[in-house]
Amino acid sequence: MLIDIYSPGIYTAGIPHRQFAWLRENAPVYWHEHPDGGGYWVVSRHREVVQVSKDFKTYSAERGFVMVDDMEPDVLDMVRNQLLGMDPPRHAPLRRAVITRFTSKRLAALEPRVRAIARGIMARVGALEDINFVEDLAGDLPTAVICSLLDIPEDMWPQIRRWSDLCTSATDPDLGGTPEEVNQASIEMGTYGFQLASQRKDGGGDDLISLLINQEVDGEKVSEAEFASLFVQIAVAGNETTRGLISSGMYLLAQHPQAYAELERDYSLIPSAVEEMLRWTCPLHYFRRTATCDTELGGEKIAAGDRVVMLYSSANFDESVFHQPMKFDIRRNPNPHLAFGYGIHLCLGANLARMEARLFLEEFFRAFSGLELTGTPSYIESNIVHGFKQMPARLTRRH
Ligand code: HEM
Repeated sequence: MLIDIYSPGIYTAGIPHRQFAWLRENAPVYWHEHPDGGGYWVVSRHREVVQVSKDFKTYSAERGFVMVDDMEPDVLDMVRNQLLGMDPPRHAPLRRAVITRFTSKRLAALEPRVRAIARGIMARVGALEDINFVEDLAGDLPTAVICSLLDIPEDMWPQIRRWSDLCTSATDPDLGGTPEEVNQASIEMGTYGFQLASQRKDGGGDDLISLLINQEVDGEKVSEAEFASLFVQIAVAGNETTRGLISSGMYLLAQHPQAYAELERDYSLIPSAVEEMLRWTCPLHYFRRTATCDTELGGEKIAAGDRVVMLYSSANFDESVFHQPMKFDIRRNPNPHLAFGYGIHLCLGANLARMEARLFLEEFFRAFSGLELTGTPSYIESNIVHGFKQMPARLTRRH
């Protein structure tokens, strides 16, 4: 079978299930050509994706960051200050600090605010209005929540979203830009974050920016460069991904009217439905690691310095782990999907994203009695971000 899972255009038709199934069956650790003249290993089965994620000594996030395309040294230096691009021992102290804002107690305290934001979004959309579900409904909640956590003034929220989209959807002709523009967006965003931080230094604030800027890691304050990268990561990480989960999740429900009706009747089913949506929608197709030494994986010899790509959106359909993987089952239990990754870098915002999706669905069902798709949704052209940019829909308001 001809395998091309690199070209961003492939993903405009959704997850390339046929290619992924072939890889899992025939070459679970597969050497794939890269347009830069080199190649990289594609890891498509659940077992090996977990193995690579767990073994952070052999598979480094820091050496080459998490994207399959190698970066210029100055950009690489910058992104190594994101949690996502740190190896131990740098990673743990910073992660421990940030995680204090994502504990279950903190999230429970945040819930009424997130619900109010969701309710406000539903109220804004008129009855039977033709909308782009992604932009008009799904996108506002993640941006509002993340900007609230960072205490960013509301007039800057659309700008944060624009910067963020540019960073995550660089290869899409509608959303992206040249590498220089993308780099520029991330620098502008980091600079903006640092300006906010300077105002909040020693201010005693409780928001995430105040926490990070006043944080000591191993006895030293977080530097300007570290802060800027961290800010960018946190602002970007929760935007596109959660929007993807919500819009693609609703699309799945529109295609499964029985599941839709069950959830509408019984909100207690929503948490397990969200897990199944995560398995299917898997908002990030992959993250990359770089081998630190010669090793072996799934019977293949991996050389030090090789790029290794963990294909989450394939692992989530691994027939040796998921019974009838192509069935959308809102009661699936257990559901060990890898949409949030695994191991020391496991998504910090996972429970926040779950909560956003749950509250979005609850408030959606309260506000609307129907969702009709009025056109074919179009996917973001990207080999890493999995989600729609357009989902034309019409809603019927309850009252
Ligand atoms: C559906 C929504 C989301 C998905 C699918 C998602 C997915 C992921 C994945 C796959 C990773 C990497 C895990 C690994 O390398 O093993 C990750 C890491 C991370 N995510 Fe998320 N994410 C989502 C939402 C969020 C939100 C809302 C936030 C922030 C508020 C967030 C913040 C982070 C951070 C800070 C990391 C780095 C953690 C570390 O390296 O220690 N994510 N996410």
